[in-house]
Amino acid sequence: MSLTMSTNAQTQVTKRSSWASRTGFILAAVGSAVGLGNMWRFSYVAAERGGAAFVLLYLLFVAFVGIPLMTSEMVVGRMAQESPVGALKRLGGPSWMPLGVLFVVSAVGILSYYSVVAGWTIRYMVDAMRGAIPVDTAGYFTAVGTGWQAVVALGAFLALTMLIVCRGVQRGLELTAVLLMPVLFILLAALAIWAWTLPGGGAGYLYYLKPQLEQLLDPFVISSAGGQAFFSLSLGMGALITYASYLRSSENLAVEAVTVSLADFSVAFVSGLIVFPIIFHFGIVDAIGLGGGLTDNTVGTLFIAVPAAVQGLGAFGDLIIALFFVMLFFAGLTSAISMLEVPVAAAIDSLKWSRAKAATVFGLVALALGIPSAFSLSFLNAMNKLIGDFFLVVGGLFTSLLIGYRILPQAKAELGRGLSSAVARDAWAVLLRYVIPPILIVVAIGALMGALQAIGALLQG
Ligand code: TRP
Repeated sequence: MSLTMSTNAQTQVTKRSSWASRTGFILAAVGSAVGLGNMWRFSYVAAERGGAAFVLLYLLFVAFVGIPLMTSEMVVGRMAQESPVGALKRLGGPSWMPLGVLFVVSAVGILSYYSVVAGWTIRYMVDAMRGAIPVDTAGYFTAVGTGWQAVVALGAFLALTMLIVCRGVQRGLELTAVLLMPVLFILLAALAIWAWTLPGGGAGYLYYLKPQLEQLLDPFVISSAGGQAFFSLSLGMGALITYASYLRSSENLAVEAVTVSLADFSVAFVSGLIVFPIIFHFGIVDAIGLGGGLTDNTVGTLFIAVPAAVQGLGAFGDLIIALFFVMLFFAGLTSAISMLEVPVAAAIDSLKWSRAKAATVFGLVALALGIPSAFSLSFLNAMNKLIGDFFLVVGGLFTSLLIGYRILPQAKAELGRGLSSAVARDAWAVLLRYVIPPILIVVAIGALMGALQAIGALLQG
């Protein structure tokens, strides 16, 4: 009796962390997916790339590329029971390890500039509560969006992220998602209803919802939509491999991927329903560059448009801004946690570091890398295009090749633990082998061109 008890205790100690419940896993994965990408990045890239055409292409990417790839990452993670670097080595062999390293590099790189934007949300939240956001919101964004004030906010945000990741899977990642995500959904719905009541927002809905057909074929629009789908669904850098590696049960991973993707798409879509009517209602189209020439302020679309919207509403207006940025902050936090968890899990599994050491080291690296983005929006934009579009698409391309051509039988068996339909498993395999790779090669080329364009703009400016 005492013998079995002590062996149980032993296995308890050596066992990897795991989620406390299926809902916890789903909320954490939704928390990773739903982030600044859905609101800040979605609205600025949609604004830059033609509105509705972009939105339509984005939806197609989510359905035909995003969902199968998300399923793939989950399959890899649950099958390997290990974080990306070790998982890829174990499943694909040593030659696949560099892909895991690319994942870690992308994760830290994205975390660096992502935390700058998340830092803005803290600043806006605090200033809105103090009623201190001035009338000239574009000028205000220029003043607080870059410089030392932005660095301080960046540091505060990263410190909080590190603390939560230090607390581990159940008490850190899962608890945060379970508490924050429901609040986020409620705030989002309330704000969308409010935006709908704005007179003159109709032009915004049109820009957002009525595609111009010629733009559907524009390579920049297509590759931006693909890149955005990757970014928003948290694909291409092992975040969902890591999260699924904490799964023990044999649930249907295809269902989980559809659930997470639908939740993510809905949040992005509803955010557009908030942002675009506001932009048009308040006639700030030129200030953010929708009227033609892209400006630095396009990166700040959301941060300029939303506070402008409530001018003249007094304390009620400040309340709306505060709620909006609380929501954005929650969204950013649960996503940043998932980015930091990628290198942290890799260091715990592969280098045997403690969680606290790993979180501190990688958090500080992200802080150092984030400082240039906190000083230059062109730098931030270039990072976003290079890592947030190009690296993620390359990561996704190799993930589909790994499953499609190297470990297909095992991967199908793993998926089959929960998904009983053989037809569905075959369709998944066909997508991964023949449909997704060629699409991603095209998207990667477009994303690379977009990145080079942004880097060129950075070097000139
Ligand atoms: N999906 C998040 C967003 O939309 C960002 C994010 C979190 C992410 N984890 C990721 C992006 C992993 C790419 C890869 O804000």
